[in-house]
Amino acid sequence: MSSCRQTAARMVAPGKGILAADESIGTMSSRLEKAGVEATAENRRIYRELLSATPGLADGASGIIFCDETLGQTFGDGSPFAQAVHALGILPGIKVDTGAKPCPGLPGETVTEGLDGLPGRLAHYAEVGASFAKWRAVITITDELPSAGAIRSNANALARYAAACQAAGIVPIVEPEVLMDGTHTIERCAEVTAAVHAAVREELALLNVDLAGIVLKPNMVVEGKDNPQVSTPEQVAEATVEVLRTWPEDLAGVAFLSGGQSPERATANLEAMQRHSTPWPLTFSFGRALVDPALAAWHGDPELVTAGQDALAERVAANAAAVRLRGELQPA
Ligand code: 13P
Repeated sequence: MSSCRQTAARMVAPGKGILAADESIGTMSSRLEKAGVEATAENRRIYRELLSATPGLADGASGIIFCDETLGQTFGDGSPFAQAVHALGILPGIKVDTGAKPCPGLPGETVTEGLDGLPGRLAHYAEVGASFAKWRAVITITDELPSAGAIRSNANALARYAAACQAAGIVPIVEPEVLMDGTHTIERCAEVTAAVHAAVREELALLNVDLAGIVLKPNMVVEGKDNPQVSTPEQVAEATVEVLRTWPEDLAGVAFLSGGQSPERATANLEAMQRHSTPWPLTFSFGRALVDPALAAWHGDPELVTAGQDALAERVAANAAAVRLRGELQPA
């Protein structure tokens, strides 16, 4: 088995998910400030160390995604983040896109950038110990959008990224995110998510990406956040799994983003997914649904590091317990 296949299998190992702690400097800074913490490089480092060093984290998390700044920083004891988490039994990952930027020719839509110089950056990240990478494409739903051009451009960039990662021996997390912003129905989200996945699959195939050596990180299929008709976990699970069924059996696994759902809703939806029998594991790669409670509990107070870690541990344990129900919950 190739090393990418082995790593991908480890990332989606039974009962485990992935912690997304890779907010860009700008996003992390505004989240810290909102929590009353001064947005310095040292505070971003302290916060990421708090998350990574949470006791027992490896029981429910196979990996943590960092951003470039964090991968260049060290734990308080001087060990670089990648080595420190490896030593804790957790795989370190790195976000390698440079963000969703306005797409020329397509007003109101974005294409994710970061392909220039990517092979060189991946070689560097592999050298400093990164096992996997992440690239997030962002698709917006309105009455008119997304356009075919935005879907195709983002899918092509995701595939070029994924092929470059596998060439560097790094597992790509392929993240096509259809945003929850808007008033759209769950059916509309399903239709758009299906169209995006079809384009992503086509582009991955054209560039000979090995699906057994990637982890797909999709949005759950849900209604827009301004639609008052809130779907039940059973409805979300059914709609999501139906869209995912178009992926071949050899895909290593699926690890959902939380996308702005509350931590409790994301977990309930993830649990409901486990009732469906699928050829690939369905797990979590949440950001906000795991770390928001930890940031709120800690809010920069050195006396509250343990409270922050307890809050993260509780969310990770709840989601790991949900994915462990796989098998038990499936119809006989
Ligand atoms: P959320 O779970 O907060 O959507 O973040 C996941 C992620 O990694 C976004 O790229």
